[in-house]
Amino acid sequence: MSRKRKYIVGLLGIAFAGLLLLQIFPIGRIRPVFAREPNPPITASVEWDSQEKERMVRTACFDCHSNETVYPWYSHIAPVSWLVTRDVNRGRDAMNFSEDAPTEYNLEDLEWHLFNDMPPRLYLILHPEADLTDEQKAILLSGFQATFTEASHEGMDMDD
Ligand code: HEC
Repeated sequence: MSRKRKYIVGLLGIAFAGLLLLQIFPIGRIRPVFAREPNPPITASVEWDSQEKERMVRTACFDCHSNETVYPWYSHIAPVSWLVTRDVNRGRDAMNFSEDAPTEYNLEDLEWHLFNDMPPRLYLILHPEADLTDEQKAILLSGFQATFTEASHEGMDMDD
């Protein structure tokens, strides 16, 4: 092996050992590595106004805004597991379609998030099927508008 090659193999070895070492930190981990059923129970569900829109919201939003999260294999490996757990916990706290499914919502807020920062960009890299076009987002928004009534703004605001 050339020196350069040895050097690269050595670096890879160190990186791999580092990755293994990270696995002992369970920061933010809510489930054991091989858990099959890590989702909390579903205690409510939203009646969507069409199957197409339900499919869209399930594809693009349910991983973080429901208790039907699909955890791919890499989501069990630190540090990805830390990020996934953080996103899922915060996403569910903000809006959970499987618990106390919202019937009222600040629709302007929903529209803003849908067109500006949802789903999060990092998620879209690994889930290209969740990357909705503006037309699809408009259809999904019409579904939210048909499904939720506008929250009255006194005290009903969903912001935190
Ligand atoms: C990868 C996880 C993830 C996905 C997928 C995702 N979200 Fe979110 N969402 C979050 C997180 C995390 C927050 C909380 C952000 C914060 O607290 O700063 C959030 C917050 C929101 C909020 C603000 C809630 C509030 O009232 O504070 C809305 C609205 C929202 N998401 C809509 C959507 C919609 C619509 C989709 C699907 C098109 C979607 N999200 C997909 C992670 C996600």
